[in-house]
Amino acid sequence: MTSHRIAVIPGDGIGREVVPAARAVLDAVAARHALGLDYVEFDWSCAGYLREGAMMPPDGLDLLRPFDAIFLGAVGDPRVADHVSLWGLLIPIRRAFRQYVNLRPARLFPGVEGPLRTDAPIDLVVVRENVEGEYSEIGGRLSRGFPDEMAVQESVFTRPGVTRIVDYALALAANRSGRLVSATKSNGIVHTMPFWDEVVAERAENSVVEVTREHIDALCAKVVLDPGRFDVIVGSNLFGDILSDLAAAVTGSIGMAPSANLNPEREFPSMFEPVHGSAPDIAGRGVANPIGAIWSAAMMLDHLGHPGAAAEIVGAIAATLAEGRVRTPDLGGEATTGEFTDAVVAALG
Ligand code: NAD
Ligand code: IPM
Ligand code: MN
Repeated sequence: MTSHRIAVIPGDGIGREVVPAARAVLDAVAARHALGLDYVEFDWSCAGYLREGAMMPPDGLDLLRPFDAIFLGAVGDPRVADHVSLWGLLIPIRRAFRQYVNLRPARLFPGVEGPLRTDAPIDLVVVRENVEGEYSEIGGRLSRGFPDEMAVQESVFTRPGVTRIVDYALALAANRSGRLVSATKSNGIVHTMPFWDEVVAERAENSVVEVTREHIDALCAKVVLDPGRFDVIVGSNLFGDILSDLAAAVTGSIGMAPSANLNPEREFPSMFEPVHGSAPDIAGRGVANPIGAIWSAAMMLDHLGHPGAAAEIVGAIAATLAEGRVRTPDLGGEATTGEFTDAVVAALG
């Protein structure tokens, strides 16, 4: 029997509701495929921060490092400032473990009514740069409380950092439609983006992939007006963040989108988590859509070398949505997180 050790961080809010849902589906599929999944749960969260003054222990990253993968729910609680919780847990994991690729697929599943007038197929992937760009640690708040107060943050785009994410996206596009869109803002305002474009153009030169670039503002409009024309989109940390919620929303709900924070070289564990956050507005009611977390679990199995088991999970999500009887309130239904999860487990066969 193949076994994998998984570090599980449920985190905050609906993270604590969708992680058990994903685990139930993982357990069911693991039994069918004779996979051993050994979970170790780390109760690192904002509640923990309020108790102990830290989002994770000082040796937290060392504790995670030996695992085969990390599965995370969500981080964030209105009682703790977001920059404290996120720089204290989520961002250090992505950075320390060189998870520089953030893969965020979005698909309009048959049976789901998206918010758009079109029901043309949508099946795209946002490839988000995940460790540099606009999310830099350089800068801060100056002259706090004075009339001239300011906040400054440097964007950091390095040649190796842009090259590796663009190469990843080109390889992915070559295996899909052969088309790649690069999200940019090179019309003279943002200094980093002409550099991004230059690297994209250089890497595209020796590739079979047809690369086009779109300004991020116009691209957002096009993803809403005609999402079916997109396949793989590569973007910087911030552009990829915004595009991934947008792409999820046009496929029905941001509760459905999964993500894989990948360290492609496998020097460190990769991390799998839904795209959505802790959703304090619905937390504790048991109505969160677990699809983002369940689909992220499928991406984790794929990464661990079990594409068949992963496809079975995505197939069970699709079958449950196509059947149409059970869905959570964000998709217009009345099912609880648990009821939807049970339906997915039943659809596994
Ligand atoms: P959010 O994704 O938590 O919620 C945005 C909206 O979408 C809310 O109305 C919420 O109810 C809804 N929603 C989200 N997931 C849903 C689901 N599974 N089912 C049904 N509805 C869902 O984003 P936000 O409100 O900007 O952030 C809330 C907190 O989460 C903040 O503290 C933020 O920093 C944090 N956050 C964490 C992560 C992460 O851990 N990766 C990601 C995004 C936001
Ligand atoms: C995400 C989130 C995070 C991000 C926040 C919570 C730091 O929005 O995973 O999409 O911007 O990366
Ligand atoms: Mn986001």
